[in-house]
Amino acid sequence: MKDAAPQTIYLKDYTPFGFIVDGVELTFRLHPTKTRVFSKIAFRPNPAAIDNRFFLHGEQLKLINAKIDGAEITPRAVDGGIEVDVPDAPFTWEAEVEINPEANTALEGLYMSNGMYCTQCEAEGFRKITFYPDRPDVMATFTVRIEGNVENTPELLSNGNGDEYGTDQTVTPNSNYAVWIDPWPKPAYLFALVAGDLIAHEDTFKTMSGKDVRLSIFVRPGDEHKCAFGMEALKKSMKWDEDVYGREYDLDEFNIVAVDDFNMGAMENKGLNIFNSSCVLASPETATDGNFERIEAIIAHEYFHNWTGNRITCRDWFQLCLKEGLTVYRDAQFTADMRSEPVKRIDDVLALRGRQFPEDQGPLSHPVRPESFQEINNFYTATVYEKGAEVIGMLKTLVGDDAYAKALDLYFDRHDSQACTIEDWIKVFEDSTSRDLTQFKLWYSQSGTPEVTVREEFEGDIFTLHLSQSSAPTPGQDTKAPQVIPVAVGLLNDNGDEVLPTQVLELTETEKSFTFKGHATRPIPSVLRGFSAPVTLTQDIDNARRAFLLAHDTDPFNRWEAGRNLARDSLIGAIVDGTAHNEDYLSGLKALLRDDRLDPAYRALMLGQPSQSELAGILHKQGQIPDPAAIHAATESLRDAKAKAFADLLPDIYTANQVTGPFSPDAEPAGKRSLANAALSLLTRLDGGEAAEKQYKSADNMTLQLAAFGALLDAGKGDNAIAAFYDQWNDDRLVIDKWFSMQVMFAKPEDLAATVANLTQHADFDWKNPNRFRAVMGVMAAHHAGFHHTSGTSYQVLADWLLKLDPVNPQTTARMCSAFQTWKRYDDDRQALLKAQLERIAGQNGLSRDTTEMVTRILE
Ligand code: ARG
Ligand code: ZN
Repeated sequence: MKDAAPQTIYLKDYTPFGFIVDGVELTFRLHPTKTRVFSKIAFRPNPAAIDNRFFLHGEQLKLINAKIDGAEITPRAVDGGIEVDVPDAPFTWEAEVEINPEANTALEGLYMSNGMYCTQCEAEGFRKITFYPDRPDVMATFTVRIEGNVENTPELLSNGNGDEYGTDQTVTPNSNYAVWIDPWPKPAYLFALVAGDLIAHEDTFKTMSGKDVRLSIFVRPGDEHKCAFGMEALKKSMKWDEDVYGREYDLDEFNIVAVDDFNMGAMENKGLNIFNSSCVLASPETATDGNFERIEAIIAHEYFHNWTGNRITCRDWFQLCLKEGLTVYRDAQFTADMRSEPVKRIDDVLALRGRQFPEDQGPLSHPVRPESFQEINNFYTATVYEKGAEVIGMLKTLVGDDAYAKALDLYFDRHDSQACTIEDWIKVFEDSTSRDLTQFKLWYSQSGTPEVTVREEFEGDIFTLHLSQSSAPTPGQDTKAPQVIPVAVGLLNDNGDEVLPTQVLELTETEKSFTFKGHATRPIPSVLRGFSAPVTLTQDIDNARRAFLLAHDTDPFNRWEAGRNLARDSLIGAIVDGTAHNEDYLSGLKALLRDDRLDPAYRALMLGQPSQSELAGILHKQGQIPDPAAIHAATESLRDAKAKAFADLLPDIYTANQVTGPFSPDAEPAGKRSLANAALSLLTRLDGGEAAEKQYKSADNMTLQLAAFGALLDAGKGDNAIAAFYDQWNDDRLVIDKWFSMQVMFAKPEDLAATVANLTQHADFDWKNPNRFRAVMGVMAAHHAGFHHTSGTSYQVLADWLLKLDPVNPQTTARMCSAFQTWKRYDDDRQALLKAQLERIAGQNGLSRDTTEMVTRILE
């Protein structure tokens, strides 16, 4: 067996596997460096097969022996696996292989994290565990026996229901074993195994049909006190999926395990979700409100995959958005229901603009359903996930809530236990609504962010909105067809009363006009309410109109957006020709901040302003070359202007939003803390850090402590806090990740590279741990002014570390290469520096397939 040579895989080449798997039996004899995996798999020829070559994937496996129907055979080693001649009838395949979990630093397949065995098989990790048709359209039931050692691995977990647990001292002293049966057919990427010294936080859930499900969150000793919140989130998710989607859980137990070394956020393995510990563990002292909210959302996300992903899975990896877009959409609905709908929508749009727009507007742009890839792990992107969720939201807007509910019922009915495609998904909507979705489907195949332009006209009593759309060329797609864009619009009168409630206009052509009759006076439109489509909007309106919408829009998203656009234009003016900041914006914002009827969380969002990288993207789109230093100066000056303009208000806001009593991570107190902390950050510009110092000293939760720490660092007065914070938290990995991140985030642009170089010398900079690596390198890449400092040192530091990490962990390395995706936005000098680093990475001998694909695409 050889590792697969790099090659491009195409959606159009899909063919079904030549065999059907009737059942899988696996036995694991665990050992840190020499784990034995025994497999016994029942195959039969697939009547739908085009090609009946018997090929099994396998990578980094040592084959001990293989048998067909009990007779030993010698498989042929081929690229990425093995081939065997097999009978044209049902047969049994058996193999014994040896693998080395301890040497597995890529964290894909079976690996070790702090002495604990764990797995990550999505997308193609199962082939590092044993020989298997490692593709999502091969679904089978699994029985798994795990043999361990009572001392080191008292807990032995796999998918499905625990069937047996025992110790068998007669065979080997101290040995233990467990047998797990998963009755639901699943693809291999949902396989999981965990073994270690773990403590369970337990609970139960009674499902809608009255079945009791045992729930456990397994953690390392010492983390028991960080499980309660995750457990509540799990129970809420289970209930919500029953109430809103009619989906009931389908096993007797549901287990979650927290793992410190993990490439991504979490993984929906059937009945055994594995989480990056940062995405499940939380206590008030160690986790911020933001962490709590994120944990609740990720627990929901992974749980919801049980139906959208596991019971109905993907035919091939090109269909990834089938499960991810839908599941992100579902978790967003859940968060909106648990917390505040407008706040969640604004947060999601911020994330989309922050991560998906740059991807879609640069060299990595790809459709929600890509048509080719070299390494599928490089396509777990903001486009597949977040734009994929936006596409579902648009579909729901277009067909309506009831039709959406009906279509989903049909989807679950029709496709249960199948591996499906986007065509299946679309067909369900077509069949249940009789609507032709051919044009809508372009959202899955056309990449790029469409731009919608609005022009207004008023004549007699007729108000007309002229809408047009265009989409810039993206890699591999020079011209685009018009898409179906749902544009939600409402009309207001001069007093700010709504004269026409929200309507959805369907922009289906390049240009289309929509008329509104019977308006004696000119109405004021509020366009793209709720951000009804993932597009950029160009609207020729002045600041007075924006200030009006900021004061009066009845759509909370667009009200926020009006303020955001004022801030954006004020910043662009300051960057481009040094214009003073817009007074209408500052006074409008001030009126809003005073308005106690408005949710504090919403007001805190109102206080925000576009990030520096977002501004760079906007300038680039306008055909200008962004200057990171000028952008940094302008964002600082706007914050200063806010601090000055709101000087009389900030102490009141700060005081009025203090929360008393025991800590609760619920939306309401969290919203107050976020407004108080936003006020603190501005106040620090006036009082030199006095209030922040006080808050740091008295804080009894991480939300307050970290905000005060940030304010002090920002004011250049963080030295004592840096030392104190470390002393207080040096035994808590997740908090020390924050300690690293904060110092990087608040470094002065000219000090960034040195700060990072210094931190990487620290004894706790455990760079093989993805969370720690990201806490420093990811945050450095996100520090716009520092990363793009003219010296180019930050580029070099990042490239050095990516080259160091690549042989150890290609997946995390490749993902972080996206820090370079915007390189063509900048001036010639910076471009040359960036290009030199990209070429240095690309030229490295033995560079991983993952990283090679990323840097090649970025350089193209
Ligand atoms: N399916 C997981 C989720 O979205 C993501 C796992 C992806 N992991 C990977 N190595 N590509 O919940
Ligand atoms: Zn997911």
